[in-house]
Amino acid sequence: MTRPSYQPGRHFLQLPGPTNTPLRVSEAIARPTIDHRGPEFQALGHEVLSRVRAMFKTEGPVIIYPSSGTGAWEAALVNALSPGDHILMYETGWFATLWSRLAARIGLVPELLPGDWRTPVDAAAIETRLREDRAHAIKAVCVVHNETSTGVTSDIASVRRAIDAAGHPALLMVDTVSSLAAADYRHDEWGADVAVCGSQKGLMLPPGLSFNAVSQKALRASESAGFVRSYWDWGEMLAFNRDGFFPYTPATNLLQGLKVAIDMLEEEGLDAVFARHERAGRATRAAVRHWGFEVQCIDASADSPVLTGVRMPEGHSADALRAAILERSNMSLGSGLGQLADKVFRIGHVGDFSDPATLGTIAAIEAAMRATGVPHRSGGTEAAIEVLAGEETPVPSTQAA
Ligand SMILES: Cc1ncc(COP(=O)(O)O)c(C=O)c1O
Repeated sequence: MTRPSYQPGRHFLQLPGPTNTPLRVSEAIARPTIDHRGPEFQALGHEVLSRVRAMFKTEGPVIIYPSSGTGAWEAALVNALSPGDHILMYETGWFATLWSRLAARIGLVPELLPGDWRTPVDAAAIETRLREDRAHAIKAVCVVHNETSTGVTSDIASVRRAIDAAGHPALLMVDTVSSLAAADYRHDEWGADVAVCGSQKGLMLPPGLSFNAVSQKALRASESAGFVRSYWDWGEMLAFNRDGFFPYTPATNLLQGLKVAIDMLEEEGLDAVFARHERAGRATRAAVRHWGFEVQCIDASADSPVLTGVRMPEGHSADALRAAILERSNMSLGSGLGQLADKVFRIGHVGDFSDPATLGTIAAIEAAMRATGVPHRSGGTEAAIEVLAGEETPVPSTQAA
């Protein structure tokens, strides 16, 4: 089947980011660009810088960069650390691995505690490693809250407790790129020092903004941190932000969109947003297990509300199935990343979506599987309907821990 040049209906963007941008946000972004040094922008700057803190559940400053999430990864490291510093990371999957590679490339010494890409961060392993580090050579512990390559969410409060139990002064840095505004994240309560985020997932914006939420401890660390930095420098940014401005041209239109996205998330209520994601996750996993497939996450307490990683049956290509779904249904699903390439596909249930999107996604996957001969038990949509209708009957999991 070849893709026609026009496919009717909307494109189903069911990736775990970028996610669908709601019309209200798109309209705000489409408004005329304003003077980034004028009074209208100043009011917008004050408003978004103040209100975005509620998304991170922090009273501290949140820095906004015109960059993708990778920029905010780098910003967190270069502001709070010095070349040659040791940092402790945990291999939850592809994104944890990429962050550690970035750290090594800029001159840090990351130690990536090995993980199996199917379970969350092991806080006990972090505590053990920190206890061994009597000289306090490790300057930061860096973990990914929601590992987007696997669909596994880690317990950040347990990592904080591990650091405290070891009596270790390391900073706690948390990647919230795919969790923020989709899964509960509590920067202050959980004692995180730097949160890293991007605009294109739970915040429902197009790609292009990134964030660092920064604790007082991290700010103090930045005063003596030894990395040469300019574009990413928190100090310069905060000095301008105090007046509602930025040291360089900000992404004005995306900030207009951010204001509306925060309006929408607050209108729905963050707890309702989290519950909607969690419920869609349960419905999706019920369908996947009904088909007879394994979910990539094998720890039921760590199932992601943001995405479901689906393991293909042996001998079947995840990429071929995704290609068939794109061709037949004009729907994009996430690919398997790193060691999971072609073995796993990822169903995003994050951002601006409702039950019909969840059900449509599952039905289109099942139709493509039937059409292309991928062996499965039919009826996944019905299993999802049962969850969404509140009639969930426990589906035996082949792999739940
Ligand atoms: C958990 C996580 N961290 C970091 C990134 C990198 O962000 P970006 O692609 O916006 O640079 C991503 C991207 O998907 C991600 O999911």
